[in-house]
Amino acid sequence: MSKQFDVVVIGGGPGGYIAAIRAAQLGFNVACIDEWKNDKGGPAPGGTCTNVGCIPSKALLQSSEHYEHAGHHFADHGIGVGKLSLDLAMLLGRKDGIVKQNNDGILYLFKKNKVAFFHGRGSFVAGKDGGWQIKVGGAAEEELTTKHVIIATGSNARALPGADFDEKNILSNDGALRIDKVPKKLGVIGSGVIGLEMGSVWRRLGAEVTVLEALPTFLGAVDEQIAKEAHKAFTKQGLKIELGVKISEVKTSGSGVKVIYADAKGGDKELVVDKLIVSIGRVANTIGLNAEGVGLKLDDRGAIVVDDDCKTNLDNVWAVGDVVRGPMLAHKAEEEGVAVAERIAGQHGHVNFNTIPWVIYTSPEIAWVGQTEQQLKAEGRAYKAGTFPFLANGRARALGDTTGMVKFLADAKSDEILGVHIVGPQASELISEAVVAMEFKASAEDIARICHAHPSLSEATKEAALAVDKRTLNF
Ligand code: FAD
Ligand code: NAI
Repeated sequence: MSKQFDVVVIGGGPGGYIAAIRAAQLGFNVACIDEWKNDKGGPAPGGTCTNVGCIPSKALLQSSEHYEHAGHHFADHGIGVGKLSLDLAMLLGRKDGIVKQNNDGILYLFKKNKVAFFHGRGSFVAGKDGGWQIKVGGAAEEELTTKHVIIATGSNARALPGADFDEKNILSNDGALRIDKVPKKLGVIGSGVIGLEMGSVWRRLGAEVTVLEALPTFLGAVDEQIAKEAHKAFTKQGLKIELGVKISEVKTSGSGVKVIYADAKGGDKELVVDKLIVSIGRVANTIGLNAEGVGLKLDDRGAIVVDDDCKTNLDNVWAVGDVVRGPMLAHKAEEEGVAVAERIAGQHGHVNFNTIPWVIYTSPEIAWVGQTEQQLKAEGRAYKAGTFPFLANGRARALGDTTGMVKFLADAKSDEILGVHIVGPQASELISEAVVAMEFKASAEDIARICHAHPSLSEATKEAALAVDKRTLNF
């Protein structure tokens, strides 16, 4: 017999599980269907983010950073550690434990909020009485009836043509997070967010890492000045980054991978590595939804077409997160999930796309919100810029991490903050102040007049705001 709900969410990643919880908070009878399996075949809600994305990558970034510090930087503090050793199995096991804590945490949240969880694949059967019939496929088949459907089926790694992921030699983000022996040589295709984060992890653990990037510019979406500083730091750390390459072939043998490519000058080159991570972007995932069967409209890249409110072309069907347009970020997916649940309840859920922060969790970290200097120039907008280097920040000196800067961009007349860009220690945390400031339409002067704790990295934020008016105090 069909089980009746007000809202059925398909997909239990950050977009889906948060939408389900918010809808339940608003008084709806909610179900969430997710098909992710843990290594025992059991449910593992949390999606890409929890299982093979944000959470495990940050666990490995933390462990590998400790290893690098112990090996190379503790000595600066007068600390000797004797012979350094690495138990990779334990390091990976710690990461798996953190993933499991998050999976279990979501199952607990479902219980707490009375969200019915179904483990299996959700697909559309047909429309019924202004609502929808949804099938749950898998070990225990179920049929659900609901008024509203929220699709949050996420994305999958994009493969290079002719080089499918085998997760042994050619790795997606999934395989990149569970290499069981540090490769001597690691190749990475794509110097985007995953390439830099995972490249950093394995370089710190001892691999010789070469990153091949198609575009002639490094981190094209990042403010140029910040990207330049980051490039300098990564190169100094030993990450080899080749820009403007064109991959022609990837060949695997039992023991490794050969990448044949043309370099920026068109010269024929080969890169032979033990493992190859391919991180060239992600594609929206609608596999198994029966989108065609019910006429759900997709765009030419396979993403579900939605309007500004995340409404699809089908009545009472919504879609959020990686499966729709916009940045593929967990917090964007969550905000859309909350907004859709509130819209279903007749409220005015809102997502401000201008204030979605971006963070790349390398060392130095890179974080930004709002517009870059190159975007403002292209728009012809009159702006003022102010920067402050961590080199002149007391806390950064005490940490022994003075790479990078904070940069403010403000409107030339009104002084409204248009963008904040950070490369340096704890940029991921520092950016929140800028997000709040921009949400409240603050001016650079507002930040410059706020008391910041001393000594703290956030003083660099205040000083960069002062720099907009050319009146830094410590530089
Ligand atoms: P997903 O998290 O992909 O979840 C979709 C879920 O739906 C999955 O569990 C899937 O199994 C399930 N599903 C799909 N189809 C069906 C179906 N028919 N029936 C039932 N279930 C289905 N973002 C950040 O903001 N910060 C980071 O630090 C960050 N790090 C990342 C690191 C890596 C290596 C990767 C790959 C991504 C990272 N991201 C990060 C991006 C982030 O993971 C995604 O933006 C986010 O997970 C998108 O959430 P979502 O809910 O839209 O989809
Ligand atoms: P990406 O879009 O960040 O970077 C892909 C890179 O690959 C680009 O620089 C692109 O020019 C390059 N590229 C594309 N085709 C290529 C080719 N044929 N040869 C060489 N280079 C090529 O995508 P990535 O790194 O795969 O990550 C996917 C998404 O996951 C990110 O865009 C982001 O939304 C999310 N993510 C977010 C993280 C965070 O917030 N810290 C961490 C990791 C992923």
